[in-house]
Amino acid sequence: MIVKHPELIDALQISKLANDLKLNNINGANTGFLIYPLDENGYKTRINSSFFYITKDNSKINGFLMAYDSNTLNNYLQNKLLSHEDGIMDFLITQTENYVFGDQIGIDPKAKRNNIGTLMMTELTKDMKFKNISTMYVAILHKPVKNLTSIAFCSKKGFKEICEVTNKDNTTWGIYKLNIN
Ligand SMILES: CC(C)(COP(=O)(O)OP(=O)(O)OC[C@H]1O[C@@H](n2cnc3c(N)ncnc32)[C@H](O)[C@@H]1OP(=O)(O)O)[C@@H](O)C(=O)NCCC(=O)NCCS
Repeated sequence: MIVKHPELIDALQISKLANDLKLNNINGANTGFLIYPLDENGYKTRINSSFFYITKDNSKINGFLMAYDSNTLNNYLQNKLLSHEDGIMDFLITQTENYVFGDQIGIDPKAKRNNIGTLMMTELTKDMKFKNISTMYVAILHKPVKNLTSIAFCSKKGFKEICEVTNKDNTTWGIYKLNIN
């Protein structure tokens, strides 16, 4: 079941799920991972202002997708809510068209490969079409470890790699772009 009403989304559960998926908590990279998970407040701040979707198994959140349109992203930057991703942001702020940046997606390892990520992406692209936004960017870690799971997932959705950028923390990221018809 997909939920997108902000008042029904529990930021603490999302923070726990995201932190469980942090690279340092996962031995080996073959299952996918997050690099910059947020705390409860970080997610709370974003739930109201972004494209935010969760999936639930009974009352337990087992997946989330968090994305922002370009105006919201600029707001976050002005308010210093995106602190580590400078190389990625330098790329995004030079884009002139209206776009959505897919910041984080995370699925409970027990629920992976069950189409949950796909369902949330489908919902997001529907909402983008409704708002007349046809471009989406994501950044996927390339170094020190390549997030091959995320690359496989995004490639299946039609994303194409367009360049690589490096953040101040020395991580290197592929920027991937999707055009929605
Ligand atoms: C990447 C991720 C979101 C995929 O979610 P998911 O719900 O398991 O993906 P889906 O079941 O919708 O898979 C759709 C397609 O993506 C590809 N895919 C997904 N996981 C894959 C894997 N581990 N290996 C290879 N291809 C994979 C497949 O083509 C799959 O289609 P198929 O199952 O019919 O072959 C999930 O693995 C995850 O949360 N990873 C940890 C966090 C992360 O890395 N997030 C991205 C960085 S922000």
